[in-house]
Amino acid sequence: MYGADDLSSMAIFSGNYINFGYWQVLIPGLISIDERTESQANLYRTVLRRLEIDPTDVALEVGCGIAVGTVLALREFRPSVIYGLDLSQDQIDRATRVNSELIARQPERLIFQQGSALRLPYAGETFDKCFSVEAAQHFEDLAVFASETHRVLKPGGRLAVATFFMTHATAAGELRRLIETIDSGIDVVAEIDSFRQDLLAAGFVDVHVESIGEHVWQGFDAWIAQTEFKDGWGRNWLKAYHRRLIDYYLVTADRNEI
Ligand SMILES: C[S@@+](CC[C@H](N)C(=O)[O-])C[C@H]1O[C@@H](n2cnc3c(N)ncnc32)[C@H](O)[C@@H]1O
Repeated sequence: MYGADDLSSMAIFSGNYINFGYWQVLIPGLISIDERTESQANLYRTVLRRLEIDPTDVALEVGCGIAVGTVLALREFRPSVIYGLDLSQDQIDRATRVNSELIARQPERLIFQQGSALRLPYAGETFDKCFSVEAAQHFEDLAVFASETHRVLKPGGRLAVATFFMTHATAAGELRRLIETIDSGIDVVAEIDSFRQDLLAAGFVDVHVESIGEHVWQGFDAWIAQTEFKDGWGRNWLKAYHRRLIDYYLVTADRNEI
């Protein structure tokens, strides 16, 4: 899925991002490619604001893709160092290519690595902040992801995760009928309440779950309607949201101070 073919080059994405986007206001009329790219950057900004990044922070993005969002985090939120991790070596190669100038200028501040969300290749208590944007729908075991992020965060550290989840467990059958990538298993799509429980079981406190679906689904659907995919199953995401089967969430959780 994220291997040899560059998914970000599909018409439904743009600007080397691969996410549905966060649409503050949807103005009737044609959406430009720049506006589509900005929607994806805005999803990152929405997540990153919740992290309250300090200039001394060491941050980690899990599932960074081509890492244009990792770089946005470095430029606009200014942690001291940021790591981008992705399961796909092809994505890490693209990230390294696309961001080569910045890496050459500040190699100690921007570090990419191949690795799994389920086995983070870092020592315990390495990071002040950890985030993941539209990647957790691929993680096969969110309980393991929760305990891995808890392990690598320092006491007092914060996690922020944005992606889509099932609103309730009984939605699974209908979602499989509507969404090809769920039916094929590319998107695993857990139930939101079970992820909340996973975070608590891992030891996180102040777990906060917020639906941001009103800023995601309508805008993404309006964009798909302009593309070659306008008559495909991709239009079913909005239907599934309207039927209350799926929603897009921003979840934050803190690791306790000792
Ligand atoms: C939809 S893309 C999102 C990329 C980026 N966050 C963005 O918004 O543009 C999901 C990314 O998650 C990565 N991924 C999937 N499973 C993973 C795992 N178990 N560990 C780390 N990364 C994973 C994929 O390789 C892909 O690059």
